[in-house]
Amino acid sequence: MDIIRVFGGHDLAGCVHVSGAKNSALKLMAATLLAPGVTTLENVPNISDVHVMGKVLKRMGATIEVRDEHTLVIDTSAVASWEAPYELVAKMRASTAVMGPLLGRFGKAKIAMPGGCNLGARKIDMHILGLEALGVSFDTDHGYIYASAENGLTGTTVTLEFASVGATENLIMAAVRAAGTTVIDNAAREPEIVDLANMLNEMGAKIEGAGTPVVTIEGVDELHPVAHRVIGDRIEAGTFIVAGALAAAEEGVEVAGFTPHHLGMVLKKLELMGVPIERIEDGVRVHRAQSLRPVDIQTLPFPGFPTDMQAQVMVLSALAHGSSVITENIFENRFMFASELQRMGANIRIESHHAIVHGVDHFSGAQVVSPDLRGGAALVVAGLVAEGETDVSAIHHIDRGYERFCDKLIGLGARVERVSVPDPTDD
Ligand code: UD1
Repeated sequence: MDIIRVFGGHDLAGCVHVSGAKNSALKLMAATLLAPGVTTLENVPNISDVHVMGKVLKRMGATIEVRDEHTLVIDTSAVASWEAPYELVAKMRASTAVMGPLLGRFGKAKIAMPGGCNLGARKIDMHILGLEALGVSFDTDHGYIYASAENGLTGTTVTLEFASVGATENLIMAAVRAAGTTVIDNAAREPEIVDLANMLNEMGAKIEGAGTPVVTIEGVDELHPVAHRVIGDRIEAGTFIVAGALAAAEEGVEVAGFTPHHLGMVLKKLELMGVPIERIEDGVRVHRAQSLRPVDIQTLPFPGFPTDMQAQVMVLSALAHGSSVITENIFENRFMFASELQRMGANIRIESHHAIVHGVDHFSGAQVVSPDLRGGAALVVAGLVAEGETDVSAIHHIDRGYERFCDKLIGLGARVERVSVPDPTDD
């Protein structure tokens, strides 16, 4: 098995370019199903989640050519299947994003139920309720959700109980082909939603209000393929900014290739902690914090503090002078990371969905396991300033969303390597 080995104590300097946003690229790939023909997506990150979404599209009959590593030329003209199979959906929940486009194009979809999810219960219940309002009926059988709009999709007003990113995206992608006007009330406002709406509008859709809580979609008869560039990954950027805040040399670290206001609340909280950040043209320059102040954070839908930056900022707060409270409002089980960080010397107490973090003066390198994508990256970042060596395992989580994470850190001067080690649980 591969692990990432981090040798702590090396300063970072220079510039790192972030890749295209994972959470945009996956949804834009799904949206190509709506426009039969050849759509070109530029600035697509070369990460395993994108490979999984590519497989989903290919199973349906699309062809994908990869140019220059980051450009996908996706031909959806021959797509004739509307099924997202279990083995792919089980690997990546985001593959449920094909439901809206398949309904928009074919009026039907067969999607494997994501693990741990029941129709009408948690997780994708809001997608289902919203699509039902547009005229879709649902059935489940043998672990699959069968969705069909026998009389076509009809625009209506859908009020989301919670500003779910996935539900907003699926609803937009179905509503672009519905008859009449759909209004999504309490829509998610994430920058990735705006990127999706921008591409769909370039394809001929009529979407207004993306990025605000009320999105209005006037259905159209057809969409045409386009070329579109994926926005920069704000979460990858935030991860490198935290690395810089901990370990930057005198001249600081430049993190480029993203829009700083997509990370507004994160930058504000880091500044409150004492991290010097300068906005530059397409990113920021971050300097090492001389002394970190504690901070209180709660994760919220955009423009609130993103759940995907919670673990990285917990690393910073664990080295602050004082106690911080971090509240996770979006996902359960997202504090598994904290127990790994404790193995490195952090002092964290979990109480329900709050983490009470008492700052310590250093981390010590240890063997730790990535609990998930962001937690894994945060452990590598913690290793950059830990005493000695940190071995992070289960790095397939990190590969899901960070392109060449080690190489980018090495480019900044970190001592990090990917090594193959025998699996200690093997006989
Ligand atoms: C979430 C994040 C998004 C991030 C993405 C990838 C939020 C609000 N969303 O999006 O910023 O980019 O993960 O890490 O921070 N829920 C239901 N029923 C539903 C849909 C959602 O109960 O039908 C619940 C989920 O269980 C979760 C919350 O709502 O607790 C957030 O869901 P949602 O925004 O849909 O999640 P993602 O689209 O995965």
